[in-house]
Amino acid sequence: MDDIVSAAGSPHPPKRFLLCSPDNFDVTFEINPWMTTERRPDREKSWREWNGLVAELRAAGAAVHHFPSLPGLSDMVFPTDVGVVDGNRFVRGRFRHPERRDEAAHGATWLLEHGFTEIPWPDDPNMYLEGGDAVRFGDVLLCGNGPRTSPAAAAHLSRVLDIPVVTVPIVDPRFYHLDMSFCPLDDRRAIYAPDVWDVEGQRVVEKLVPEPLIISIDEALTFSANSVVIGRTVVMPACPPRIRSALEDWGFTVRVSPVDEFLKAGGGIRCMALDLDLLGRSGHLSPLVQVE
Ligand code: ARG
Repeated sequence: MDDIVSAAGSPHPPKRFLLCSPDNFDVTFEINPWMTTERRPDREKSWREWNGLVAELRAAGAAVHHFPSLPGLSDMVFPTDVGVVDGNRFVRGRFRHPERRDEAAHGATWLLEHGFTEIPWPDDPNMYLEGGDAVRFGDVLLCGNGPRTSPAAAAHLSRVLDIPVVTVPIVDPRFYHLDMSFCPLDDRRAIYAPDVWDVEGQRVVEKLVPEPLIISIDEALTFSANSVVIGRTVVMPACPPRIRSALEDWGFTVRVSPVDEFLKAGGGIRCMALDLDLLGRSGHLSPLVQVE
């Protein structure tokens, strides 16, 4: 069930993630171009890949928490979308598709039970937010916009989290969350696939990232941008050779943790690991991880 591991001896609090186990993982509906109910995930293989991912994240020094899903919540293995969490507070996701709406409550219950405080939404039914669209780069929150998140929701995040938000309009429906085309590496570098966005989005990101690793649509289709970075380790669903050598030249270690069963639902590693400290601000740590 709930399980906490911290990086022994580390002088910094470990990076914390929340995962949801694949108890009820399946492809039972089609809400993105990757999903077809004709191609269902294999149960045993899903568990193997999920356990492998937990082990890789821990080996990289992360604190991994996890919780089970509920019957019927077949996409709950992608808890990144249930909200935007920053230290000890969170904004609950507002899913675009009714098929995923109950996940927000299930994720919020875990967060509330573990000491996080919820920041309420204004009473506006037209705001949508899925956590996969929220990606921090330096002092800015990038917010994917279009398929799953509305501009008004991005403005709300900026207000309540007190951070500048840059919206990036997504035009390629295969990459319906920003975390499929943008992966921050550190405060200067990021992997990204500009062809996924409209021209304005390309322009703002180009201005923002001093040292980009620009990838093609074909490279992004491997889910290589849907990765998690822990210190200098990048845990990736796949890593084409050109991307690997660029990352290694920059001093990163690449760890590939295949999650092919989850790709059938259109989600990779970043979707499977909710970052509990998205904005990385100190002073917001919840009691989840005791730091000596
Ligand atoms: N089947 C899920 C959906 O379409 C996949 C979620 C992927 N999540 C992400 N953060 N990219 O919503």
